[in-house]
Amino acid sequence: MRGRLVAGNWKMHGNRASNLALLNSVLAGIAGLEGVTCAVCVPFPYLGEVAGQLKGTSIAWGAQNVSEHAQGAYTGEVSAAMLAEFGCRYVIVGHSERRQLYGESDAQVAAKFAAVMAAGMTPILCVGETLEERDAARTEAVVGRQLSKVLEKTSFGKAVLAYEPVWAIGTGRNATPEQAQEVHAFLRRKVSPETAVIYGGSVKPQNAAAIFAMPDVDGGLIGGASLVAKDFIDIVKAART
Ligand code: 13P
Repeated sequence: MRGRLVAGNWKMHGNRASNLALLNSVLAGIAGLEGVTCAVCVPFPYLGEVAGQLKGTSIAWGAQNVSEHAQGAYTGEVSAAMLAEFGCRYVIVGHSERRQLYGESDAQVAAKFAAVMAAGMTPILCVGETLEERDAARTEAVVGRQLSKVLEKTSFGKAVLAYEPVWAIGTGRNATPEQAQEVHAFLRRKVSPETAVIYGGSVKPQNAAAIFAMPDVDGGLIGGASLVAKDFIDIVKAART
């Protein structure tokens, strides 16, 4: 439900030693912090180990992808039930890198979303437009379509929505707080006033507070800065209510 959330998306980074060091630093840095939920979405091989390291701490964990299928001959895929068995809480679904680099369709994303919901976990559904689409004033049409495809199949429930403009991801060029607010307000109207809508795309300690101050921005999905303990801690702090 709505509430402050800052989730790190580690993407394909890290190793066992660096993960442990990062988590220990972040745990120390956010100790006692209230008013914000903190999570990390880590690569599949590390999930079990990270789950153990985070057990009993204030940091939740999640995966970055999932199969839309329940089981079967799908070499290389990981099912929602497998993640749930380890106590996974969040699963990123429909990240633009999955859509763009691996050709995930809206229908596939909707099926993945449904699989995560059915397994009792919380999907973090990513939507976002390319620069070309923004320049053509198609932002609302694009994110609206990406969201509708999911809503046609499953109710949104307590899932999290992440607005991640493709042009802002890993580019150092974040959406302005006003640009984020405009799209978040549009998206929220399509789900529920109680849905958490977070922003992702070049969130850094320097811009986090201004973006999180917007009325319809409930936190962030953090890529690069989630790999740097101090930056991630400062961003989590900026999201406190
Ligand atoms: P950056 O924070 O590195 O721009 O990445 C954002 C993102 O893709 C989070 O899912």
